[in-house]
Amino acid sequence: MKLLEKHEVLEKNSILLLIGIIVVVLIGGIIEIIPLFRKETVIEPVEGMRPYTPLELAGYNIYLREGCYNCHSQHIRPLRDEVTRYGHYSLAAESMYDHPFQWGSKRTGPDLSRVGGKYSDEWHVAHLIKPQSVVPESIMPSYSFLMRRAATISDLDKHLKTLRMIGVPYTEDMIANAEKDAVAQATGDRVDTSGFVSRYGEKVNARDFDGQQHTVTEMDALVAYLQVLGTMVDFKSAKNIHMVEE
Ligand code: HEC
Repeated sequence: MKLLEKHEVLEKNSILLLIGIIVVVLIGGIIEIIPLFRKETVIEPVEGMRPYTPLELAGYNIYLREGCYNCHSQHIRPLRDEVTRYGHYSLAAESMYDHPFQWGSKRTGPDLSRVGGKYSDEWHVAHLIKPQSVVPESIMPSYSFLMRRAATISDLDKHLKTLRMIGVPYTEDMIANAEKDAVAQATGDRVDTSGFVSRYGEKVNARDFDGQQHTVTEMDALVAYLQVLGTMVDFKSAKNIHMVEE
């Protein structure tokens, strides 16, 4: 009875009632939202995911700068037509090292989240120089200038360091060798890549992506990035991933 009388105060004063409602809704909202700030609670770990190599990260940055996301998504929805066309639907873990993620919202061109390994480096270079040379009806613009621009690799250690602050597991060793690793990845066989491979794993692509041996160009970086998209997770060996029936 006592409690009901106290409640009467709230019920008879609309301002007090409003404040009371806001407080209660806020508490509910906070309880729902706070756990999601910890990405371990929302992203199921999958095997094979690793942070981008410095060269791939430089390519990712070019992808952002050029606004490729305006025409391309990187998010395969779990719908039959998408899975048939692009492959296994995207997992949250696959974009957990993307800051910001590149899911996109528009597909003027196709989804790119599994484009890695689909074409040769030569195809990508020809396509980026002049899309119509390989896809005659393409409306994609030319990015031929990437062949002439040297990639900025001297500041990649800072990029790695910054990403580490927000949870990407780059080691001291990776940060210290960022520039060297970018050169090693874009040079491939002609230099000793053992340090680079030991830091990023056997599966890593190390070769001259754009066919111009003398410099690490923005084309090298962008193609290195495109060629790794969707290739990190081995879906055949992953047991905890529900496969889509063909
Ligand atoms: C104006 C929209 C537009 C922009 C901007 C754009 N693309 Fe495209 N892209 C397309 C279209 C349309 C296609 C399909 C035709 C073709 O293959 O050229 C395509 C195809 C592609 C493909 C082949 C995909 C496949 O599976 O066949 C790749 C790779 C690609 N784009 C990469 C890029 C990158 C990297 C950038 C940024 C540097 C970019 N695109 C910017 C429209 C665009």
